Amino acid sequence: MDTSQLKPKVDHSSQSGSEHKQDTKVQSRLPGFYELPIGERLSTVVKAANLSDSDRFHLGQFGSLNGELADVFIENAIGTFSIPLGVATNFLINGHDVLVPMAVEESSVLAAASHGAKLARLGGGFKASATEPVMTGQIQLFLKKTCDFDAVLTEKKNELIAFANRGHDSLLARGGGACDLDWHYIPEMKSLVIHLHIDTRDAMGANIVNTMCERVSALMPELLPCDIGLRILTNLTERRLARAECFVPASTFDSPEFKGTDVVDRIEKAYLFAYYDVHRATTNNKGIMNGIDPVLIATGNDWRAVEAGAHAWACRDGKYRPLAVWKKTLHGDLHGQLELPMAVGVVGGVTKLHPTAQSALKLMGHPNAKMLAQIVVATGLAQNLSALRALASEGIQRGHMSLHQKNLDLLQHHGSRVNSTN
Ligand code: MEV
Repeated sequence: MDTSQLKPKVDHSSQSGSEHKQDTKVQSRLPGFYELPIGERLSTVVKAANLSDSDRFHLGQFGSLNGELADVFIENAIGTFSIPLGVATNFLINGHDVLVPMAVEESSVLAAASHGAKLARLGGGFKASATEPVMTGQIQLFLKKTCDFDAVLTEKKNELIAFANRGHDSLLARGGGACDLDWHYIPEMKSLVIHLHIDTRDAMGANIVNTMCERVSALMPELLPCDIGLRILTNLTERRLARAECFVPASTFDSPEFKGTDVVDRIEKAYLFAYYDVHRATTNNKGIMNGIDPVLIATGNDWRAVEAGAHAWACRDGKYRPLAVWKKTLHGDLHGQLELPMAVGVVGGVTKLHPTAQSALKLMGHPNAKMLAQIVVATGLAQNLSALRALASEGIQRGHMSLHQKNLDLLQHHGSRVNSTN
């Protein structure tokens, strides 16, 4: 990556170790905390941080997740954190109507997604596709002496893939399993990195991938003079991509204030701005993730994994670029497309156990992992379309602020309530 794009100007003058002040002294050493029942953990924290009954009430809420599940999902659980769950409308994806559940705290995200989907719908909706759900695991080796690893790995490749698949009969029966292996060498650290590619079907697959990598790595010292390094999946899932595209007729953007053809021109220029300018690209891609993350959260998927993959993918040519591409067509209409790594699952883990995630998947008609990946990417594209349309015409604040006003009103109301009780 060309780091000259990024010239941080950080003012360290106000940073000092003494800045972290607290009214009361909190004891953070809590031996055996993790072993306590969830209610006792909450009591311990309330006491340790000198919190009120009201704090205790809010920290200890469970929503649709009972305490038992919260306790199973993470360590040291004391409660759950609620954010709004909404449903984006107007989505037409590959000719099918879809209601898209989105869990997000930011006002205007749902309205923008629904508006973007409405614009795309006028041009026939989203056309989406996804690759097979192939994840990649990395096995890092440190070579102890020079050797012809190309020859060894070429000869043993099929054996290693078969070994990786041992004990995974049900995955194989569903058409998945390890399916390919390649490698590259990092001369700077004499490190050979093997990539094991695994079709994890409807699972996100992190556990399958890591398990297979650890097992296969144990064989390597018998084949090559090496020490074993890391064994872990990569979140840059280049073989697990999803893609969505849409056309929007220029006339769709016509308004008393703006000519649709001008709006198309300005959206194309907004894309180019992000293409050439890393600061704009970052904000543009944040807007895309405004659409993507909430669907991942609502379906119990690992949104940090998708975020990491998305931003690495955004700089695959060496510079950080906008994830979606917007162009004016020969007929003067708008065409947009978005493709990115999309490692999502619909079975296993939180997706399977979280009652809200289960109902969210049901709301979408029980998509398989490939279909969910397409819905997620279409939502990201809709979100970007809506933001760029506003930015390229009246500006973002008019729509954003009218929705945000509800938050401000509430804040003012809440503030006056707090003051009146003081
Ligand atoms: C705000 O959350 C997202 C936007 O800033 C995205 C963009 O600028 O493209 C509106």
